[in-house]
Amino acid sequence: AQQNRMKLLIERAIIDLCSSTLLPDKMVIADLGCSSGPNALALVSVAVEAIHGYCLQFQQPPPELCVFLNDLPDNDFNTVVKSLVTLRRINDPVVLTGVTPGSFYERLFISSSVHLVCSSSSLHWLSKVQV
Ligand SMILES: C[S@@+](CC[C@H](N)C(=O)[O-])C[C@H]1O[C@@H](n2cnc3c(N)ncnc32)[C@H](O)[C@@H]1O
Repeated sequence: AQQNRMKLLIERAIIDLCSSTLLPDKMVIADLGCSSGPNALALVSVAVEAIHGYCLQFQQPPPELCVFLNDLPDNDFNTVVKSLVTLRRINDPVVLTGVTPGSFYERLFISSSVHLVCSSSSLHWLSKVQV
C-alpha cells in the first residue's frame, strides 16, 4: 500500500514537473535514504518509467536521465551499485547512475542540479529538526 501511494505521488510529481515548464533535455533524479534492500531502486525506477511514459503520451523527446541514490556512508552501496546496472541498461536515451554517500543534512549535489528528489520512510529517521 505504501509503495502504491509513493508510486502515485511520484507519477503526479513527474506530470507537474514535465507540464509546468518546457521539458528539460537532461534530468537528474535522486532518492534520499535509499537503503540497500529490494526497495533501493523502487522509487527512482518509478520516476524513470513515469518520465518515459509521459514523453510517450505527449510525444515529447525523452530526456537523458541521471539517477543518484543517497544513503549514509555505511550503507551497503556495493549491493546498490550492482542493482543500478538494471537502470543503466536503458540506452535510448541514456540513463546514467551514481551514488552520493553522505547525510542528507549535508550538501550532496551541486547547486540547481536536481530536478526531482524522492524519499520514502527516511524522514522519520530525522535526528534534527530543520526549520
Ligand atoms: C527505513 S529505511 C527506508 C529505505 C527505503 N527508502 C524504503 O523506502 O524502503 C531509512 C533509510 O534512511 C537512511 N537515512 C537515515 N538518516 C539519513 C541521513 N541523515 N542521510 C541519508 N540517509 C539517511 C537510513 O540509513 C536507511 O537506509
